[in-house]
Amino acid sequence: MTKSLLILPGDGIGPEVTAEAIKVVNWLREHRGFDVEISQDLLGGASIDATGVPLTDAALDKAKAADAVLMGAVGGPKWVGQPYDKRPEAGLLRLRKDLDLFANLRPAICFPALADSSSLKREFVEGLDLLFVRELTGGVYFGTPRGIENLPNGERRGINTQVYTTSEIHRVARVAFDLAAKRRNKVTSAEKHNVMESGLLWKEEVQKLHDADYASVELEHMLADNCAMQLVKNPKQFDVILTDNLFGDILSDQAAMLTGSLGMLPSASLGAKDAATGKQASLYEPIHGSAPDIAGKGVANPCATILSLAMCLRFSFGRGEDADKLEAAVAQTLADGIRTADIWLDGCTRVGTSEMGDAILERLAA
Ligand code: IPM
Ligand code: MG
Repeated sequence: MTKSLLILPGDGIGPEVTAEAIKVVNWLREHRGFDVEISQDLLGGASIDATGVPLTDAALDKAKAADAVLMGAVGGPKWVGQPYDKRPEAGLLRLRKDLDLFANLRPAICFPALADSSSLKREFVEGLDLLFVRELTGGVYFGTPRGIENLPNGERRGINTQVYTTSEIHRVARVAFDLAAKRRNKVTSAEKHNVMESGLLWKEEVQKLHDADYASVELEHMLADNCAMQLVKNPKQFDVILTDNLFGDILSDQAAMLTGSLGMLPSASLGAKDAATGKQASLYEPIHGSAPDIAGKGVANPCATILSLAMCLRFSFGRGEDADKLEAAVAQTLADGIRTADIWLDGCTRVGTSEMGDAILERLAA
């Protein structure tokens, strides 16, 4: 049966990097019997400009119906200063929430060819392969009350609420333990139980689930600030890092830089598998932003989006072999010294977005 893939290019460099992923999909259709139909819709600022909202109900329905969604990036200076529900980011948050994509997988892998592009010394990052499992539909991103209020004394007060329930913690922790069991069998759970009740609950519930169902996986608890420090001190100590929504946002950006460039990191956001149909809502996206400063110039690095497509092939389309080959093609392109500006080093060939996509395709086809 023909599968469906919805592409949401979004803003800034989003359309440029997703175009390269589409090239790969079309190649797989032609040469590898990948029976998939691609459709596209608007998200973020592009959607605001065309429809007044960052994600239309129609686009959301398409996302729900699709077997998988691949997006580029959202946001830009043009839409700054609008109320939160009229900002590009609100479209992405709605997509995550309404598809119930509670588990955000963010691998941070240092390709051997990029070890010298990292801001850390080669010995600290060479061979790095860690995975963030970030909770994505709860915590302070969605907690209420929230807002900015005017106090009688003329002051203003900003409020956000960090809130988690046991079931929200258990379902994402389960994903982390299951993935760790297939890797190096270790989960580090990061929170701030020393100052936050929600952090204490997080720690206790992760431990409870571990003792009940995952005693064979090594579990360590780490304060999130210490985790930030350990990530630059000795990143290779980690296998799977389990975090809430906000800490995961911050720590995964930090880990991204260990790999050489934010332009390299893919992500997958997954919902629960439907017991009856086996269908699992999923959204794949590079973790970098819309990079308005380089948008439209054809210089953005498409690797993170192409690697997101690899995750999509593996998790949503059962095409692990194609995913492996695509990842190997990216690694080979880098090893051959073909680089976009963000990862370019002396002696390498500097290429633009589309040439980088072509170089990867060429190696995929080889
Ligand atoms: C991310 C981004 C988003 C987030 C923004 C664009 C809403 O930073 O995916 O890491 O904060 O989750
Ligand atoms: Mg972020």
